[in-house]
Amino acid sequence: MEGEMIKVMYHIFSMPAATKGVIVEAGSFKGGSTAKISLAAHIAQRKFVVFDSFEGIPGHQEKHGKNIFGGDAYFPKGSYLGSLEEVKKNVARFGHLESCEFIKGFFDATMPSFTRPVVTAYIDVDLASSTQTCLKYLYPLLAGDGVMLSQDGHLPWIIDLLSKTEFWQEELGISMPSMQGLGKEKLVVIRK
Ligand SMILES: C[S@@+](CC[C@H](N)C(=O)[O-])C[C@H]1O[C@@H](n2cnc3c(N)ncnc32)[C@H](O)[C@@H]1O
Repeated sequence: MEGEMIKVMYHIFSMPAATKGVIVEAGSFKGGSTAKISLAAHIAQRKFVVFDSFEGIPGHQEKHGKNIFGGDAYFPKGSYLGSLEEVKKNVARFGHLESCEFIKGFFDATMPSFTRPVVTAYIDVDLASSTQTCLKYLYPLLAGDGVMLSQDGHLPWIIDLLSKTEFWQEELGISMPSMQGLGKEKLVVIRK
């Protein structure tokens, strides 16, 4: 939604230019959010790295159902499929393709070797397992006052994951960070 994208832009533009780092998106679907964020990346003069399978949601064993607003929330394997070609075409038309770098594959294969500093990470990946992988590999890369923004704050399984002190301790070796919007809003801001 527009209000959520404005918050994402706010975080991108709040980062001092002297803090080096890229903007990351995990989960692009057809490239709607990718195109918008690519424009902000262009203005902020930062590279924008986009991770996706470009094959849709991976196979999983998670049980889903309703979101916190009472709407249906099902994420079968292969849903939200946008091919890399389709996403590039949409970003070329509505965004700034030259600012983007695309990393194709499932996150558990592509993220472990990614080591660049990150100033803003926007994750919209629907599954608890995918969110867990993004947090594990991207959160430690946050530079300066960098933030991670989860667009899945309306999904109970994501709220459960983010609320678990053991997850933060065991996966990242840190106490639970400060979060804004958790349990209430679709966009959750996770601070460093
Ligand atoms: C809800 S869609 C993203 C929507 C997009 N941000 C938008 O605004 O239109 C979720 C995306 O996450 C991707 N995804 C989820 N889990 C993934 C994983 N483990 N590895 C790679 N891609 C994944 C899917 O392929 C899909 O494109």
